[in-house]
Amino acid sequence: MSVLTVAGQKGGSGKSTLVRNLAIHFARDNYKVGIVDADLIQQHSSEFFADRTKEAGRDVWTGRDDIPGLTVRAWDRSSPQVPDASIVLAPQADQDSIGDIIQALADVTDVVLCDLQGSANIAMLHAIHYADLVLIPVQPSNDDLRSCHSTARHVVQAGKSARRTIPYRIVISRASTGFRPEVEKVVEQALDNANLPRLRTPVFERTAFKRASFSRVAPIFDEPNGGAARNLEALYTEVRDTLAEIVAASRETA
Ligand SMILES: Nc1ncnc2c1ncn2[C@@H]1O[C@H](COP(=O)(O)OP(=O)(O)O)[C@@H](O)[C@H]1O
Ligand SMILES: [Mg+2]
Repeated sequence: MSVLTVAGQKGGSGKSTLVRNLAIHFARDNYKVGIVDADLIQQHSSEFFADRTKEAGRDVWTGRDDIPGLTVRAWDRSSPQVPDASIVLAPQADQDSIGDIIQALADVTDVVLCDLQGSANIAMLHAIHYADLVLIPVQPSNDDLRSCHSTARHVVQAGKSARRTIPYRIVISRASTGFRPEVEKVVEQALDNANLPRLRTPVFERTAFKRASFSRVAPIFDEPNGGAARNLEALYTEVRDTLAEIVAASRETA
């Protein structure tokens, strides 16, 4: 039961893309996965994993049953019992409920992934407080670099108030395939100069990720040997191993 929070104060940096794909890769690797969708405006993780209908003016979410080999259930909290599935989705987690939701999912799953809105808010701080690892996707641009510095500072400050170090890693997102433009080298250099820890594997800019946002078919199912699927497989392995190292190290110091 680890908590992985994907944070960042920029919309479009690829948070939800990361959450959706990591959720599927963890679940295919036999982890029980919880997803907390705390983006109340762009509910991209929920819309990917569940169908929404309206009943008496309120949203009702039904987990998809067409993801090969995986079961998905949505937990609307009308019952205290968290459903049993490969992936349990908690949609519409607000700042008042997110802590309880993360805790409840962490109690019955192996990994909880928190997807957040692209702004600094109270839900983000709660999700950072609970995290074993925070991932901060950053697109290679100066604006994104600045907002990623700011998110990293929030993680450090949250750690200080929690009296522990909250580990985080930057993930270069939407990187160019093939020839690496100068701007990407500049961003990486700036991250290294500022000692911001980052994962080796970037997420590349790939049409397959955009296609998946329409088709709701993740690259690993759509084109298992394609570039996007292989990219996510490598990233997943690095995230899983990093999380395992962090959890082992925290057990040693406990
Ligand atoms: N690596 C990528 N390659 C291509 N398109 C991407 C990639 N990451 C995100 N996108 C597209 O950009 C848009 C925003 O991505 P999303 O993951 O929803 O960002 P966020 O959750 O940070 O706002 C989506 O349409 C998504 O399909
Ligand atoms: Mg999002």
